[in-house]
Amino acid sequence: METQKKFRILVADESHVGFSQIICDEMASSAKARGTGIAKRSPEYIEQKMREGKAVIAFSEDNIWAGFCYIETWSHGEYVANSGLIVSPDFRKGGLAKAIKKKIFELSRKKYPDAKIFGLTTGLAVMKINSELGYEPVTYSELTQDEAFWAGCKSCINYEILMSKERKNCLCTGMLYDPKDHYSPSETKEFFEEKKSVLARLLQYKQWKFLKKFLHKEERKANGGAPKKSLLHLFFNH
Ligand SMILES: CC(C)(COP(=O)(O)OP(=O)(O)OC[C@H]1O[C@@H](n2cnc3c(N)ncnc32)[C@H](O)[C@@H]1OP(=O)(O)O)[C@@H](O)C(=O)NCCC(=O)NCCS
Repeated sequence: METQKKFRILVADESHVGFSQIICDEMASSAKARGTGIAKRSPEYIEQKMREGKAVIAFSEDNIWAGFCYIETWSHGEYVANSGLIVSPDFRKGGLAKAIKKKIFELSRKKYPDAKIFGLTTGLAVMKINSELGYEPVTYSELTQDEAFWAGCKSCINYEILMSKERKNCLCTGMLYDPKDHYSPSETKEFFEEKKSVLARLLQYKQWKFLKKFLHKEERKANGGAPKKSLLHLFFNH
């Protein structure tokens, strides 16, 4: 197992743009392997984040790309999202995601000290990491309402579910750190530790409840023949 101290974790810049393709490819293949949705990113978008100093990149001691995350701003800077967290499969389970998230959180706090920092995730690992930084789970109404942010979900396989819930819920859990009104990281960490089995069940329940309903809807459409098949149908029936 790798350990955190073996990695170099840097604020990305122009010199790292050559890694944009491998980062995008890994984001896509990891999402596929997990069977979860993801807002797709292009290499050009990743490169822009690097040039703007709004991303963190990690390398192993042998200088192999190991992980990445970037910052997005929404609602005219009122909100910041730390998005696109990815650790190369070779370097997982060694504390790297935690270290990257800490670095991007510090960078976000430095660049946007008044912004609320949030993330959406389907993973318990990320919920745990966020909890240790002082994020708390929130409803979607407490996240940015910036149309451009939610438009990013259009490329996710679960977008139809999000829209059917009038953007109030989906498979992802929203987590937020409000610099003006937040618990201490030790409190949010304790909350997570106390509730983690409930949170894990909640994530599973959401998957079961939302996806089951949509499968039935897709089946009805298929049987009726009239409505056009959606991407969800393609995803679950092949
Ligand atoms: C999720 C991901 C970023 C975790 O990276 P990682 O470097 O293995 O994570 P870390 O080693 O820092 O683990 C952080 C904590 O989460 C736990 N954890 C890691 N993977 C986990 C998993 N699959 N399920 C449950 N807990 C997990 C670790 O045990 C650790 O807890 P600890 O502090 O008690 O030891 C990585 O698996 C990944 O890139 N996955 C694909 C992309 C993805 O899911 N991104 C998140 C999108 S929101």
